[in-house]
Amino acid sequence: MTPAQQQTQLLNDAGKYLAGGGTGLFVLPAELNLIVARGEGSRVWDVAGREYIDYHLSSGPALLGHGHPAITKSVTEQLPKGTTFFFLNEHEIELGKKLVEAIPCGEVVHYTGSGTEATFYALRIARAWTKRNKVLKFEGAWHGMHDYGLWGTVPSNPSDYPHANPDSVGVPSETGETVLVTPFNETEQAVAMIEQNAKDLAAVIVEPLQRVLLPEPGFLEAIREVTRKHKIVLIFDEIVTGFRIAWGGAQEKYGVVPDIACYGKSMSGGFPLAAIVGNGEIMSVLDARSRPKAEVVWATNTLNGNPICAAAGLAAIDALSQPGVYEHFHHIGSRLRKGMVEAGEKYGFAVQAPGDDAVWGVRFTDRKPLRTWMDLTTADKKLGWRWAIELMKRGLLVNPNEKFYISTAHTDADVDQTLNIVDDAFAAMRKG
Ligand SMILES: Cc1ncc(COP(=O)(O)O)c(C=O)c1O
Repeated sequence: MTPAQQQTQLLNDAGKYLAGGGTGLFVLPAELNLIVARGEGSRVWDVAGREYIDYHLSSGPALLGHGHPAITKSVTEQLPKGTTFFFLNEHEIELGKKLVEAIPCGEVVHYTGSGTEATFYALRIARAWTKRNKVLKFEGAWHGMHDYGLWGTVPSNPSDYPHANPDSVGVPSETGETVLVTPFNETEQAVAMIEQNAKDLAAVIVEPLQRVLLPEPGFLEAIREVTRKHKIVLIFDEIVTGFRIAWGGAQEKYGVVPDIACYGKSMSGGFPLAAIVGNGEIMSVLDARSRPKAEVVWATNTLNGNPICAAAGLAAIDALSQPGVYEHFHHIGSRLRKGMVEAGEKYGFAVQAPGDDAVWGVRFTDRKPLRTWMDLTTADKKLGWRWAIELMKRGLLVNPNEKFYISTAHTDADVDQTLNIVDDAFAAMRKG
């Protein structure tokens, strides 16, 4: 069998044995679908032998590129000593200390297995602490797959604020009665909604950089002020932004410190570990030493904080703490964003690259400025798909109409090659 035939056979088996043929919502057209055989640095290779420059980075975790030597070393040293004990291990304590030192709101850490669990438990912690039931999220914000996150995440039309529609079938409508939704960056509207519902609100959860939307000056500050005033727990979902847009995440970059924050993706070097990090008093609701069990928030999972993931996290955070990392993201990301927009304009496409240099999107829209989720819905998704397909055909691994992620392993040579591909892709679209 040739490598190409082997890949086709594996894809057929995936179609047969995996629910939905893959990992869920992320579905590529059959002619572009691939099985990743291996990754190294900024590149991955599929089973058919094709090489790609990776701008998907596993949806963000591979912030240090693939197969980072220090992460590999740290994990392989731990492997023969055991992978999981449930009892405490040295690495998780050491990692907890590092997280507390790095994260502005950090006083204590609670590990989870995924970002979804982190935001799910963070909301539970807030409910337990405030003894209130409702939570507020922003339209277009992604907080994972639990029943409280999946309201107004990707609506095509404005929601009937504070009510929104569920994103997934199977989410109980009763849950929606406790989830209020309001547009991101509409400061007065958000503050008014929080004021009106203050006595019922346990938490406001926000992605400080919401997908690819930058917070307008004053927006996060106003949310901070009104939540503090009403003793509502402010949760930053830093699962994308943590250790990526700055060493101290969005809290450091935008200068607003929440009560608690959720971390995932890059903090564990591509291994399945996430964390809730925050104010010790609020997080004392997790403390079974000081409260009767009936008054403790339950958030204990079998594999949380296991030594393999914690060893990976320690190596990742150490690598991210080295001088020049964030300058590198800025340098590589700004070249790519500028080059992509210029290439689009050259071929007559209205293209923008909203976001941060470490993570951004490319959107086909002339709506300016892009402030809210509804602004983003003006983007032409069909064009976005066509462009992504042209990029993938030419060797870039991308997430259509979503985000570009870069790593410490992406080089200027990668940028040069990428911008040539981007130019060719726009030219092909203009022709075709
Ligand atoms: C901002 C944000 N929060 C939470 C999550 C959920 O994390 P996970 O996929 O690890 O459950 C994601 C996932 O993409 C995310 O982008």
